[in-house]
Amino acid sequence: MKTGFFHTPYILPKRTARQVFDWSMELAMLTDEAGYADFMIGEHYTLAWENIPCPEIIIGAAARLTKRIRFAPMAHLLPYHNPATLATQVGWLSQVLEGRYFLGVAPGGHHTDAILHGHDNIGELQAKMFEALELMERVWQRQPFKERTAHFQAGYPGPADFPGYEIDYADNSPWGGRDKLEIAVTGLTKNSSSLKWAGERNYSPISFFGGTEVMKSHWDTWAAAAASKGHAADRSRFRVTRDIFIADSDAEARRLAMNSGLADSWREYLGPIYKKFNLFQGIIEDSGTDIDPSQVDMEFLAEHVWLCGSPETVRRKLELMAEKTGGWGEIIVNSHDNIDNPKPYFESLQRLAKEVTPKLHVL
Ligand SMILES: Cc1cc2nc3c(=O)[nH]c(=O)nc-3n(C[C@H](O)[C@H](O)[C@H](O)COP(=O)(O)O)c2cc1C
Repeated sequence: MKTGFFHTPYILPKRTARQVFDWSMELAMLTDEAGYADFMIGEHYTLAWENIPCPEIIIGAAARLTKRIRFAPMAHLLPYHNPATLATQVGWLSQVLEGRYFLGVAPGGHHTDAILHGHDNIGELQAKMFEALELMERVWQRQPFKERTAHFQAGYPGPADFPGYEIDYADNSPWGGRDKLEIAVTGLTKNSSSLKWAGERNYSPISFFGGTEVMKSHWDTWAAAAASKGHAADRSRFRVTRDIFIADSDAEARRLAMNSGLADSWREYLGPIYKKFNLFQGIIEDSGTDIDPSQVDMEFLAEHVWLCGSPETVRRKLELMAEKTGGWGEIIVNSHDNIDNPKPYFESLQRLAKEVTPKLHVL
């Protein structure tokens, strides 16, 4: 069972870019030392609460500050990039990291980012993502081609393109060869079409927790699609993100969580979004209560949304989640802004990787 860290990042809108950058470095070093397997960074362009528009810069900067942890953009929003440029950058960065790199891809989940890039909404992005990754795969093959697709154009130069012009081509394909580059695809909705596409192509699934039914559906969709194309559906490749806060006792964990960045994010940002887009439904069903989403308050979040408590309690909650869903391979904790009071938060992160995950047997 692995531990991962997802640095969306949820960050107070008042933070400067430099503060977010420095905070990211601190978190990368802390999670590396604590034994986390992966550090994943979101890509968002217009959201003050999640403001890292270029995760690759964080990855490059953290490369020399860390030793073991792997990094991934989670995710590069493929519709917003030139596929040839991104394929080259991903390959080169994976070489800089000497393999401590994997690639997360997503269509983009925010209308304001879509508008920034000239789209009316996010509805048209998934088809572009599919098209972009196919072109990236071709660029990594380093065989001559030139292609114009519905949204993009890309190619790879060969000797016939410039006879007599013999230069060495840089090899910016992924470190160790394309087979060594893990690609993960994000899944959010029930019967996720993104995860079906991922399974068919043997890309890994990563799921944002939205209740046990959605999580089960993510695995089932991905595994069925993988099997349909003859790929092994290995649960250890399944990643799932949660909000987690650990302290000595349940009461102490709840008190500290309520006064932490986790509570700030939910009170001011995530709570209103979940209510607006009706994302609480699956979690309310799991809770065994019958409350209306508009009634969700901080107490409900601490009890049913966050995995909050002593190491023992959090382990039990994770085991219960595994019983209901069939298990997964990597538990990923979401990042929150604790710049002003990092100590309890850092301890919580360390305890997850050192005291909880090693004792968890959920597969
Ligand atoms: C783990 C995870 C990370 C994500 N990171 C981002 C991100 O950085 N930027 C973004 O715009 N959307 C992000 N998304 C949302 C995706 O862009 C997209 O809305 C979602 O994966 C669509 O899934 P679906 O096909 O299951 O509906 C993320 C989703 C998940 C599950």
